[in-house]
Amino acid sequence: MPVIQMRPFLGWIAILSLAALSACSRSTTGTSTAIPHLRKQGTATQLMVDGKPFLMLAGELRNSSSSSSEFLKPIWTRLVAMHLNTVLSAVQWETLEPKEGQCDFAFVDRQIQDAQTYNLRLVFLWFGSWKNGVSSYIPAWVKTNQERFPRVQDKDGKGIETLSTLSAANRDADARAFAALMRHIKEVDTYHRVVMMQVENEVGVLGDSRDRCEAANKAFAAPVPKELLDYIGNNKDKLHPQLRTAWEAAGSKTSGTWEEVFGTAPYTDEIFMAWNYASYVGRVAAAGKAEYPLPMYVNTWCSMPAPDRGPGTYPSGGPEPQVGNIWKVGAPAIDIRSPDLYSPNFPVWVNWYRESYAPDDPLFIPETDGTTGAYHVFYALGQHDAMGFTPFAIDELGLAPPSPSPTEPADLPLARSYATLTQLAPVILENQGKGKMAGVVVVADEPPQKIALGDYVLEVSYARNRRAPAPVPTPPPAPVPPAHSGALFISMGPDEYLAAGSGPVSVTFSPNTPGAPTAGILSIDEGTYVDGRWVPGRRLNGDENGQGKFLRLGGGTSRNGSIQRVKLYRYR
Ligand code: DGJ
Repeated sequence: MPVIQMRPFLGWIAILSLAALSACSRSTTGTSTAIPHLRKQGTATQLMVDGKPFLMLAGELRNSSSSSSEFLKPIWTRLVAMHLNTVLSAVQWETLEPKEGQCDFAFVDRQIQDAQTYNLRLVFLWFGSWKNGVSSYIPAWVKTNQERFPRVQDKDGKGIETLSTLSAANRDADARAFAALMRHIKEVDTYHRVVMMQVENEVGVLGDSRDRCEAANKAFAAPVPKELLDYIGNNKDKLHPQLRTAWEAAGSKTSGTWEEVFGTAPYTDEIFMAWNYASYVGRVAAAGKAEYPLPMYVNTWCSMPAPDRGPGTYPSGGPEPQVGNIWKVGAPAIDIRSPDLYSPNFPVWVNWYRESYAPDDPLFIPETDGTTGAYHVFYALGQHDAMGFTPFAIDELGLAPPSPSPTEPADLPLARSYATLTQLAPVILENQGKGKMAGVVVVADEPPQKIALGDYVLEVSYARNRRAPAPVPTPPPAPVPPAHSGALFISMGPDEYLAAGSGPVSVTFSPNTPGAPTAGILSIDEGTYVDGRWVPGRRLNGDENGQGKFLRLGGGTSRNGSIQRVKLYRYR
């Protein structure tokens, strides 16, 4: 178990917490210098923490975990042992503001204090008006006052448990609470434990393609805001193909109602809802940033368009790619739109999302699966300069099914990947946005993938053990899904690459520039990075590199290391 770097106890937080319910509107005194912020490096966007770029190797707690510090007590050391540097954790509106205008920051303070103790950073998830499309986390004083805080209505005029975006009262109450939270974080978080905020969670209308309350119907029959139409008219080449097609098919209008401008398909309802969610969430974020301008993002319940599953089967109006342009205009205070990705075909989904949001928004994965995450993380960081990566339910990883029995946290595949990436973080950050990195996910028995990087083409495949196959038992075992591995590559110089990954990966090289036609391996060293400095271990040759034919990460008969540096040469 790694040594936990203990940090000074934040006595002042404890003192602040004693005032259990304090006025939400307390004035501020904190420092605002060097707060976490975003900056560009080449084509990448980096999160700057304490003045340095930060690679977020994160995990998200289950939704209810943050409500009990007792529950979290044994979890923190597991998270440290898994080599996380950041924890995503919910701040629920119902807990923060149980009485209108009276905020209880104790659970926020405890988390900041624990993060300080365990040397972790935090991203708080604001479960305000919506969580997974529904308003389950709103305080009782909001839930029980439907007159003042109106809800989405379905086709039969019946309210559902989702606050309507078409209500200034809803928006302003949420924005006031969020602003109070940000003001408080600014006041108490002197050491910048909190590095980013998620505003709401997977927003959108579920069960129908749009809100049909009176205010929503009125807005739907009113003209599309000029600001949105100006953007569309001036940015035709940047429009998502579906948006451009709908707008052009309806006559490329510069004014008109939503259906006059975009047509009568359910997609128009989704555009309308996207505008209203973006405007609302953007205003909540702006109110928070006015107090303390941390980077802010929204997360998306991702659903690829399918003819049989329209908006409303997934949250209609959430920041899906097909309404990405609407979110960009409607919510300028949101820095990053990001995909929650649980589907097995991770690269396909990442590319689908990135087609709409890159390069403006960096890739940040706020939720994903903790098992497949062990290899997907190499793809996200290597191929897409991801700013951060976050498996969900991190507090249960290795404890709950499908794990047959509790697993030591450091032995989890994700922990091993994060251990490797912790060493590599300075090198990765140095190379982000410069076109020098690539990432892959490779699948057993699938053809090799070709990657052009620097002066060579890398052919990457899942590495099979080359020993003779074992006899097939009778009866044959149940079929298992094909094994996956993940790897990233960094071009370190004209003839040199760094390779790192999870699972067995085999790489061969061929020249990609004029000159002698064959690439040979000069040397391969496995090793580690200590404080950003390369410390070589074994020189790998012979059986370990197929008698000079390939680089092999992980697995196999000789357990090659997960970080290697290879030098190449050419001959004819
Ligand atoms: C997505 C949500 O955003 C999370 O809060 C959580 O509910 C997960 N789904 C559960 O899989």
